[in-house]
Amino acid sequence: MKTYLQLNSSLHGAESLSSRLAGRFIETLVRIDRSTDSTAGSARVVVRDLARQPLPHLTAERFTAFGTAPEQRTAGQAHIAAESDALVAELAAADVIVIGLPMYNFGVPSTLKAYFDHVARAGVTFRYTADGPEGLLRDKRALVVATRGGRHAGTPSDLQSAYVRQFLGFIGITDVEFIYAEGLAMGEESRTAAIAEAGKRIEQLAA
Ligand SMILES: Cc1cc2nc3c(=O)[nH]c(=O)nc-3n(C[C@H](O)[C@H](O)[C@H](O)COP(=O)(O)O)c2cc1C
Repeated sequence: MKTYLQLNSSLHGAESLSSRLAGRFIETLVRIDRSTDSTAGSARVVVRDLARQPLPHLTAERFTAFGTAPEQRTAGQAHIAAESDALVAELAAADVIVIGLPMYNFGVPSTLKAYFDHVARAGVTFRYTADGPEGLLRDKRALVVATRGGRHAGTPSDLQSAYVRQFLGFIGITDVEFIYAEGLAMGEESRTAAIAEAGKRIEQLAA
């Protein structure tokens, strides 16, 4: 049984295009898995909406709690670390991670950044060796559905893609693909074409 983790980060809730496309991506992956592999069984889909249930900003208190040995943590630190541990366990249990990623002011939504800050755990999801950093998560595929009002992919203003790829690679997730729906705020024709194109890419990548 494959486990899919959908991370939504749009503030638009049920209206969000990135969340809807991310959901469609998972539905397509599950459908194709079932049609090509009779042993695929039932899929487990976990949806985490980072905008509806935002994590706090990383503070000194939280960062210190992560780095304190479990037996030395205060009750408050244990509570903070448990929240992060649960997020890491959820991520570690996923075979496929699909991120709905709207662009906000040229960056990733701060809710997604807070999530990244809670799953980047030294000795748990990455470690430093004499040769540099080593990601500790293994055998995962990540698919990122990036939606933008303007057009940025392949230009210097796309600061998101390299950042997300870099972060995921840092924790060991190196199989990462992006689907873009761009020009969403550039008129109805542009929006309709972008959504149709993203739909096609979803079918291609899921196949
Ligand atoms: C606060 C905010 C900031 C935005 N900043 C950008 C931006 O820097 N560049 C851009 O192309 N679009 C920008 N947009 C447009 C969003 O990227 C677009 O509406 C979003 O990707 C649509 O996805 P969603 O429906 O999942 O929210 C912004 C939208 C909001 C609400």
